[in-house]
Amino acid sequence: AEKTILTLVGSLRAESVNSKFAQIAAETAPEGTTVTTFAGLEEIPFYNEDLDVEGKVPAKAAELRAAVAAADSILFVSPEYNGTMPAVLNNAIDWISRPFGQGAAVGTLAAVIGTSAGQYGGVWSHDDIRKSLKVAGATVLDDAKLAVGGSYQRFAAVEPQDDVEVVDGIRGVVATLAAAELAAAN
Ligand code: FNR
Repeated sequence: AEKTILTLVGSLRAESVNSKFAQIAAETAPEGTTVTTFAGLEEIPFYNEDLDVEGKVPAKAAELRAAVAAADSILFVSPEYNGTMPAVLNNAIDWISRPFGQGAAVGTLAAVIGTSAGQYGGVWSHDDIRKSLKVAGATVLDDAKLAVGGSYQRFAAVEPQDDVEVVDGIRGVVATLAAAELAAAN
């Protein structure tokens, strides 16, 4: 059967380079794997235990939980904000981490990639995302990663789609995730 990878993008701006990375993931996915991006992360209210009860869960949060539960794996694509992950992703992780031990993230395969303005490409953000996803119960592929530095300069004149090193790097991570899905299914 068709395998699915759901991407969660950490930048909300229209021209986000990270959202272009997510697009490349969709375009380079191997045969039999479909990559889609979760739209509307910014519409999910901040996690609040008072809202996380029967009948009160915000529709968009419920939608995220269902999408993560339905996907074979999740791919976080993120810049670094102030040395860690953007708040929008932290909020998404909080929602998919609950109920404790039974959240949508539990047992889900996950990997993290992205680009940032700094020279290391957002590794602090990516490390924190991996750590947080592990606490939430996901199975994180620590070695399926890509952090591209200097995003402002690197992608000022060249689109990421035309950057062979970037496209190959993303294709490699997606292939690793797809192979891990198949291994997990057997
Ligand atoms: C940043 N940026 C940034 N870059 C970085 O390498 N380390 C950092 O700690 C931060 N901190 C930070 C905080 C805030 C609030 C913003 C808005 C930006 C720069 C960031 O990497 C840059 O904006 C990325 O290129 C954003 O990715 P998109 O939007 O192109 O996907």
